[in-house]
Amino acid sequence: MHQDVERILLTEEEVAGTIQKLADRLNADYQDKEVLCVCVLKGSVIVYSDLVRKFTFPVTFDFLIASSYESSSVSSHILKIKKDLETDIKGKHVLIIEDIIDTGHTLFHLKNELLKREPASLKICTLLDKPSRREDPMEADYVGAVIPNEFVVGCGLDYDGRYRQFPYVGVLKRECYEK
Ligand code: XMP
Ligand code: MG
Repeated sequence: MHQDVERILLTEEEVAGTIQKLADRLNADYQDKEVLCVCVLKGSVIVYSDLVRKFTFPVTFDFLIASSYESSSVSSHILKIKKDLETDIKGKHVLIIEDIIDTGHTLFHLKNELLKREPASLKICTLLDKPSRREDPMEADYVGAVIPNEFVVGCGLDYDGRYRQFPYVGVLKRECYEK
């Protein structure tokens, strides 16, 4: 375990088991449908590549970069799409693959934006869910593991760009982000 990690929430084996269970559910639900799998960069890249390799239904790939920020003028959050999808999703089955849902701001606004483009279906799959932090009404259709309100790293999740490569999900020591 890395010295900046306080404890491990999900071991490498538990992450693999969680991914397999998600894939089993998605394989049963999608069957022969072709699905555009959307990776929300950068955090989701590990979960995305682990998951898509387990899919037995036909898939295509696309990627986006999005974040949300608080706007005082409209007293709510605004979505910023830094890199949009290259695919026209109209009439397509779309699956957004995420690393974590926290306040729900990013996905709430992203989902509304993508629904305007009239996909045949739009579902959300996340490895981790922190429901205790939710501020927007956002529930994923597929949740790998519910975690407590702690700042976690690994499996794509970072602090200041670091720790993404850890094969486990670990709680970051407070002293690493409260300096
Ligand atoms: P929400 O749901 O709050 O999520 O819009 C926005 C983004 O916040 C990041 N996030 C985390 N990153 N450890 C991280 O490394 C965490 O515990 C954590 N909680 C939220 C993540 O990028 C998410 O997409
Ligand atoms: Mg993310």
